Amino acid sequence: MTEIMTPQNRSSEISNGLIGQPIARVDGPLKVTGRATYAYEHAMNEAAYGYILGAAIAKGRIVEIDSAEAEQAPGVLHVMTYRNAPAQPEFGPAVTPTVPEVFTRARPMLNSDRVRFYDEPVALVVSETLEAARAAAGLIRVRYEEERGVFDLPDRLAEAYTPGRTNAGFETDSAIGDFDRAFAASPVKVDATYRTPYQHHNPMEPHATLAVWSGDEVTIYTSAQTLANFRAGLASTLDIPPERVRIVSPFIGGGFGSKLIVHPDTVLAALAAKVLRRPVKVALTRQQMFANAGHRAEMVQQVRLGADRDGRLTSIGHDVWSATSGFEEFCEQTAVFARSLYASPNRLTRHRLVPVDLNRGEWMRSPGEAPGMLAFECAMDELAERLGHDPIELRIRNEPADDPERGVPFSTRNLVACMREGARRFGWERRNPTPGRIREGRNLIGYGMAAAIRPNYIGAATARVAIDANGRVTAHLDMTDIGTGTYTILTQIAAENLGVPVAAVKVELGDSRFPRTAGSGGSWGAASAGSALHVACGALKEKIMEAARSDDRSPLRDADIAGASFVGGEVRLGGRSAKLADLIGSVAPDGLEATGSIAGGRNTETYSSYSQHSYGAHFAEVAVDCDTGEIRMRRTLSVIGAGRILNPKTARSQILGGMTWGIGAALMEETVLDPRYGHFVNRDLAEYHVPVNSDVPEMEVVFLEEYDGKANPLGSKGLGELGVCGAGAAIANAIYNATGVRVREFPITLDKLLPGLPATAI
Ligand code: MOS
Repeated sequence: MTEIMTPQNRSSEISNGLIGQPIARVDGPLKVTGRATYAYEHAMNEAAYGYILGAAIAKGRIVEIDSAEAEQAPGVLHVMTYRNAPAQPEFGPAVTPTVPEVFTRARPMLNSDRVRFYDEPVALVVSETLEAARAAAGLIRVRYEEERGVFDLPDRLAEAYTPGRTNAGFETDSAIGDFDRAFAASPVKVDATYRTPYQHHNPMEPHATLAVWSGDEVTIYTSAQTLANFRAGLASTLDIPPERVRIVSPFIGGGFGSKLIVHPDTVLAALAAKVLRRPVKVALTRQQMFANAGHRAEMVQQVRLGADRDGRLTSIGHDVWSATSGFEEFCEQTAVFARSLYASPNRLTRHRLVPVDLNRGEWMRSPGEAPGMLAFECAMDELAERLGHDPIELRIRNEPADDPERGVPFSTRNLVACMREGARRFGWERRNPTPGRIREGRNLIGYGMAAAIRPNYIGAATARVAIDANGRVTAHLDMTDIGTGTYTILTQIAAENLGVPVAAVKVELGDSRFPRTAGSGGSWGAASAGSALHVACGALKEKIMEAARSDDRSPLRDADIAGASFVGGEVRLGGRSAKLADLIGSVAPDGLEATGSIAGGRNTETYSSYSQHSYGAHFAEVAVDCDTGEIRMRRTLSVIGAGRILNPKTARSQILGGMTWGIGAALMEETVLDPRYGHFVNRDLAEYHVPVNSDVPEMEVVFLEEYDGKANPLGSKGLGELGVCGAGAAIANAIYNATGVRVREFPITLDKLLPGLPATAI
């Protein structure tokens, strides 16, 4: 179930219109009837099919590559290797000078005899059919000169270095007060080290591209979260102006951060299509995605918390060591959230990297908070127990008045309300603070909770909106809908603004010819594209009113525009009204159009003057079989404070997805790296375990709605990634409460739990 609780002081700015209604997905019928076209499904009769051959070593050089037999195989049109691939720019330095360049830098393929990671593309075979291409790839013989790679993290922490910045441009270190002294002097302490494993995004739709050249322009049908990044990144790689690249991505089967930059499918399809003068399709197989489409890196985190006996934090320390690719640095901002979450006079956060011979890490759902809060919110639970305090009361006692490190006020913050409301609804008082005390048959029952925090971002965006003489509204943005509900939310925003029914609005997304947005990423999509569309609708209304007032043909000629409104398909001006369609028909038979923009980035006035975050509290109940250690989720509750909720139905789905990722992070997800050869062993969905329906219990989502006027003109805050923040920690804390066993190495599989299960339980 979902519920929205609106505050007593409900702002008049929270309207009772279409925004905020649980409208079903407008793209739903297309999707369930199979008429939504995904990347690999774009039909092009003359398309040829590419298949990527990956390296069989993790580090070294190609000494010899013999493709003669493959070239003679039936149906083969072309075999591309580093020897004949079109010239591309060099890959360049491991660290890009600015944040945008991470997204737009050239990512050349098949441009060198170097092998940098296992399964890196060494050849592309293009054939008349996919099967022929794949079969021919098996005929290519590659001889390598192998070098010794390094893959270990935990034993190499001493080799760690300090990067220039973390992902998203944060300082790697923060230090306030004197952490060491305060921690040493604290009467109650936790000093705990946690490990989180490699993880892979695994969107349902694999990465795939159809590339079509026309003259010196290329059209790329692909699965992308951010079209502008894809356009710029591919243009850099092909060394052509971005204007000659068009990206089309109307439907995306999930991204989770793995579709923010171009990958081998896109680059190789574009190169091969150019060489062959024919459209080429390339998709990554599920197995290839594990090496070639990003991952979340393995990490070691040390969390040190010192408190007075009354539970006030005197010192907070969060140290992170993460694996990173040696050729392209990625430093997840794992401890950055800890700078804003709880009050304490002495604070220390640090990020360090250890290079390994793997492909680059990438952004993965809630980069930073997802692994960071998994560790930190367990440490808070450990501290609460040591103090003999309730975990919620401990957090409330350390609620800061202002952002503890930046010193600026919060735009809005309702973490305490989320925890209190959650406790009430979940029946938190039934939790026994002493672990292992609640038993039902063979099951040990435990309750756990964790807080959630995630920064609210906004990205620069522009939208175009038009109305025709039939009163039909069309909006265009290069925004994407990666399954989150963007089409629906933007439809609601346009419909409410212009006072027309949802059915009168058509939102078109996913084409780089449309006005530029920040795309889907960082949970900024709805707020950024939505605000731009809101502004565009405002501009369109101005144009309509101006025409209505000044045009001789207008039924509203000379009306007073003060108090004008667009409601029920009508324009109401100065006590008079006209049907919108009639009005446009008479004053602008060709229709009217307007654009609107919103500025992005962290340089805006409200961004520098306020600390903007979304909040939540997650609750979990688990059952652990006392004989086998088998863990079963029993129920979860997430109480969410993310500003105004634009659509409770799509918002709820986001939180359900986040909590499901929390179950995965706590109990299942782990990509195992073979330290001898540097490859991910369990590289398919049979062996990389994600929660399936039978793993997911009854889940409840409650929104504590508020209007955050500092965030954006809509008053909403990002929530896509909030659901996973702390979700896994709530489950880990529930397992501890059930069993008294604290597992600090994720995921918590039963082999780690079993040795510690109380003997009395057996
Ligand atoms: Mo998100 S990891 O920015 O798609």
